[in-house]
Amino acid sequence: MTKLKIFLVLAACLLLVSCQGIGKEEEKNSIRIGVSLYRGDDTFINNIRSIMEEKAKEYERQSGIKIILDIQEAKGSQNIQNNQVERFISLDCDVLCINPVDRMDASGVIDKAMTAGVPVVFFNRQPVEEDMNRWDHLYYVGVDAKETAILQGKMVVDLYREHPESVDLNGDGVVSYVMLEGETSHQDSLIRTEWSVQTLKDGKVPIEKITGGIANWERSQASALMEQWIAEYPSDIELVISNNDDMALGAIDALERAQVTGVNVIGIDGTTPGLEALESGRLLGTVSVDKELYVSAILELTVSCALGQEPPEEYPLSDGTYYWTPQEILIHRIEENQ
Ligand code: GAL
Repeated sequence: MTKLKIFLVLAACLLLVSCQGIGKEEEKNSIRIGVSLYRGDDTFINNIRSIMEEKAKEYERQSGIKIILDIQEAKGSQNIQNNQVERFISLDCDVLCINPVDRMDASGVIDKAMTAGVPVVFFNRQPVEEDMNRWDHLYYVGVDAKETAILQGKMVVDLYREHPESVDLNGDGVVSYVMLEGETSHQDSLIRTEWSVQTLKDGKVPIEKITGGIANWERSQASALMEQWIAEYPSDIELVISNNDDMALGAIDALERAQVTGVNVIGIDGTTPGLEALESGRLLGTVSVDKELYVSAILELTVSCALGQEPPEEYPLSDGTYYWTPQEILIHRIEENQ
């Protein structure tokens, strides 16, 4: 072979090797996934984490591909999360699965991922559109917040139509409610608050807001707020609308401490403790996302990214980027259980 031919063959080999990144299917027998959770003490996120661990094992058994899940908690700090992402990249993670701390500031994560050529599947805290549009290898798995809120409002509308006396407890023709809201910066808080109330109005439930407050998704914060409201408005509260189950449980804790009975409390998430409270009738209702599907979508999308495959067809993506998980109303059946 002439020197020129040897050079051409070598150059062709090099080109082949360098083309094996994103977009090319690879034969892999193990996948390393770097997962960062915004906090480790959030009930809903912890439910998701456990299902993710189970499903990763199940996938491993079925596919024969080893899944290494490196799950870290960012303790509510975007800085910590950015450092975790750097570490994941230095450990050669094939793909990242990120529950952003600050959804308005996902650019740090995206910059690092883009530079290293590592795809990212975000979930639960939706980065702003401008950030999501920066690269083709960014995905989001979540729940449509407006749909959640409309379902939450609908459960009270339906109940009011069937049994107005079980919602308007004092029979004065007005349902007086308090509102518990999640973090101000979270896309779900504003939309859930606005659309649950709008749905009640559209459904012709005569409502009046007594007061409301931000309890950042947390049971203890909600419990403290509710304790204050019970003291201020001792016999006025008929309904507690909460942006999530944990805050609804906090309100129930305060009602039980004050020995106030009959107040209807509704939440969102269908977490394990939320479902227990629903079963016992302490929680009137919740809107529950299909968590199995939610996690399957995250994992299947993540694995397809790692293998350089097209996103799985079973989880249709809107705009090629977003998977919206179905959800349902779960309500404590008064007739059946009393
Ligand atoms: C919401 C969920 C909350 C909390 C929050 C964290 O979607 O309803 O309970 O987990 O996400 O981002």
